[in-house]
Amino acid sequence: MAGVREELGRVSGPHGEVALWRRTADDGAAVTELVVDGVFAMDDVDTSTERALATEALARVDGAELAVLVGGLGLGWTAASVLASPGVAEVVVVELEDALLRWAATGLLPGLPSISDPRLDLVAGDVACAFEPDRYDAVLLDVDNGPDFLVHGTNAGLYGAPGLARALAAVRPGGVLAIWSADPSPTLLARLAQLPDAVDAEQLVLPVERDGRVFEYAVLLVRRN
Ligand SMILES: C[S@@+](CC[C@H](N)C(=O)[O-])C[C@H]1O[C@@H](n2cnc3c(N)ncnc32)[C@H](O)[C@@H]1O
Repeated sequence: MAGVREELGRVSGPHGEVALWRRTADDGAAVTELVVDGVFAMDDVDTSTERALATEALARVDGAELAVLVGGLGLGWTAASVLASPGVAEVVVVELEDALLRWAATGLLPGLPSISDPRLDLVAGDVACAFEPDRYDAVLLDVDNGPDFLVHGTNAGLYGAPGLARALAAVRPGGVLAIWSADPSPTLLARLAQLPDAVDAEQLVLPVERDGRVFEYAVLLVRRN
């Protein structure tokens, strides 16, 4: 029945409260929502841009046996798209909220209904602490709304030039750093273009229609030289 909303889980931790909800849309489809500190973070009405973060980045990477770092897990759509992409041998997903990892393990995340793929490594923590130099073929970041409207103030460093430089340094030469943003960001694009060893910085503006309104989300990409 449309309008019915059921809480699947709620946990308070060091980074605030996280809750997972399921509701029924007008067309009868089940929609899962992630709410952080009482504020809507995302749902899965349209996950095209979360999936595009993976597919657009990996379309720009050559080779086989690819290693990919994803921060964070959310509802699992980006991680699942990486696993479904050709040539991927290893996917490390770093997620701040332990609760999401537990919910993933019990099959509650619609994007990633199973975590049994042996290529998948789910890690609790801050992705900013996971940037090992020259470790990955692609680093995909969807941890916040983007540089201009943060859910977690602690993520500010990730979007500044030193944080972005560490993220790009975790990418092997020829690999790609990609970042999801709730708005197109010329500032972030310029920052990426100016990083050491950065080439081919670009911003894809991706329109998504919700409730009769068109939102412009963005995926920003840069290649390591
Ligand atoms: C919008 S969701 C990601 C959505 C995901 N792309 C998907 O396809 O469902 C953002 C996630 O990043 C997590 N997060 C926030 N800051 C983080 C950080 N510094 N490191 C790792 N995960 C973080 C949040 O807890 C949340 O699960």
